[in-house]
Amino acid sequence: MNDLFSRALALAQGQTASASAILRVAQQTSDEAARWAFTQWELRVRAGGKFSRASEMLFVREALEQATHEDLAAYHASRFPPGERVLDVTTGIGADLIALAARGPAVGYELDPERAECARHNLGVAGLGAEVRVEDSLAVDWDADFVWADPARRSQGRRTLSFDELSPDPRVLAARMRALRRGGLKLSPMMRDADLESLGPQVEFVSFQGECREALVWTGGEVSPEAARWAVHVRSGQRLLGEPRNAAGESEPRAFIAEADPAAIRAHALPELSRQTGWLPLGESMGYLTRDEDLASPWVLHRFELVETVRFDPKVIQARLRAHDEPLESIKHRGLELDHARLQKVFGVRGVGSFVLLVYPGLSGVKAALVRRIRS
Ligand SMILES: C[S@@+](CC[C@H](N)C(=O)[O-])C[C@H]1O[C@@H](n2cnc3c(N)ncnc32)[C@H](O)[C@@H]1O
Repeated sequence: MNDLFSRALALAQGQTASASAILRVAQQTSDEAARWAFTQWELRVRAGGKFSRASEMLFVREALEQATHEDLAAYHASRFPPGERVLDVTTGIGADLIALAARGPAVGYELDPERAECARHNLGVAGLGAEVRVEDSLAVDWDADFVWADPARRSQGRRTLSFDELSPDPRVLAARMRALRRGGLKLSPMMRDADLESLGPQVEFVSFQGECREALVWTGGEVSPEAARWAVHVRSGQRLLGEPRNAAGESEPRAFIAEADPAAIRAHALPELSRQTGWLPLGESMGYLTRDEDLASPWVLHRFELVETVRFDPKVIQARLRAHDEPLESIKHRGLELDHARLQKVFGVRGVGSFVLLVYPGLSGVKAALVRRIRS
């Protein structure tokens, strides 16, 4: 950042980006510097959800959207041995590189000079030094045993599920990583199992803030060649091993019902979740769980107390709600193709109260349960 831009950044701090404010800063710096500075402050606010020191960092809009949350970056870095040199071959604004550099020697490669400049600045904010090279990482020899890659989507903003739309191509990265001690790739968890497994033997689905955020593929000489799939809960550090598929479960709900963590569902780890917690899969819902007694767990999102099972019929359900003298707060469904907006209208969802209608496929057709939300 040159002096002009640095001054513009200081002048724009705390100001609303009105035409007159931008003009005032431009008069003391330049049009370009003023526009850039106001954009930086907008991006810094936006980045607050991802980085604890966002207000000191520098960003490029699209690169910020693609940047890894600092807690997830710390998890990625923890999968490499401390002290060993790691290359980040897709640096962006440097979120993963910062976490890798905090663990040991690290070098970043980035095609775009502006992003590389942001990464250098952001490493400085974190008090870390790592070299960032503006180079095509596929065109150089990888002088390290450990490599990390987070390929960019070519199609702006849109989620892509095809290798052809990612840059660099994950197949090319994985082929080169196989010759190393360990290579890690960050991909969309919505990609098909067979595609992810074609890149490396170990696939982990990352649970963070109640969502399945990423699929990580690990390959290389140090990675066991045996195929394995699991879910990892970043906050608690817990893991659940996946199985070939999630089995169908109990046909009748017990006293408590819960929703399973999306990464556990995605990793086909519901059987392991049941063994560890006693929460049993409900019907063929692929995500509702049931248990005789309530139990909190990192792998369980929302918990409910069963009021009664009901026929999936608006008249019956309205009558039961009247009998309980309770409005319907919401409807949730899993494993069924239902028109959610229409359901809400037909069942008279009010958005208040604590009664929820859960709808899911059972072995003998559509099942429904009236439940009361447990607020924790
Ligand atoms: C998804 S972003 C990485 C985000 C980064 N992990 C972070 O957390 O900030 C991918 C980056 O890889 C860069 N890139 C794509 N192909 C590359 C290549 N062949 N060599 C170096 N960088 C590349 C893109 O410019 C983009 O900034």
